[in-house]
Amino acid sequence: AAVGLIVVAAGSGRRLGADVPKAFVPLAGVSLLGHALRGALSSPGVAEVVVVAPPGWTDEAAAVCRWARSQPSAASAPAAATRRTIGVVPGGAERGDSVAAGLAALSPAVSIVLVHDAARCLAPSTVFDRVVAAVREGAAAAVPGVAVVDTIKEVDATGRVVGTPDRARLRAVQTPQGFRRDVLERAHAASSDATDDAGLVERLGETVVVVAGDPLAFKVTTPGDLETAARILAG
Ligand code: C5P
Repeated sequence: AAVGLIVVAAGSGRRLGADVPKAFVPLAGVSLLGHALRGALSSPGVAEVVVVAPPGWTDEAAAVCRWARSQPSAASAPAAATRRTIGVVPGGAERGDSVAAGLAALSPAVSIVLVHDAARCLAPSTVFDRVVAAVREGAAAAVPGVAVVDTIKEVDATGRVVGTPDRARLRAVQTPQGFRRDVLERAHAASSDATDDAGLVERLGETVVVVAGDPLAFKVTTPGDLETAARILAG
């Protein structure tokens, strides 16, 4: 079962306040997309990659792909490294549209699909490995998750609390999220309106399992997150 990876990198990153789309913001001299690809390519299971870039940024994205491919971590992963195909397609208005564009660009050989946010640029390759293993072992969908430290309240439109879910039962989920390809395609055919892809799969009634996530798979959203990422890279 060949594994295809969709890296969604078509967001504007308004909350980051940069003058380039978020995936192209530099972090220790390398774009967020470059970091994300370097991590993903050191996971031996990934055979094919589609980067979904902002329309107008596909040439820049292709240049980042060439750079990531030349990195030692990518080269040392599998014998397949040199045979990996890496493509770039333009994204859509919402994240779901961008995932759908990536899905349409995967080759027919791919039967397991990972969807990863470029903004989770420091996600370790071990997370990719765990997600792929869960799908290979038979899960229709697998997502990395971590325990939540805050107590979470559900509120109504006026801000009034309507519930307090038991924290021990909650997980904050990350990417890469992994899917049987047919399941993800059915989910996106039904709707692409969700904050994560697993949410669409849940609506089909398919089982989604949570595997161990990693604090390093946090999403760079604000300038503070970018500083945190820079501190981590500086050791
Ligand atoms: O905006 P947010 O941080 O939630 O986006 C998560 C990921 O989805 C980012 O990597 C972003 O580039 C991607 N995205 C996309 N197309 C959009 C919106 C977001 O590829 N239209």
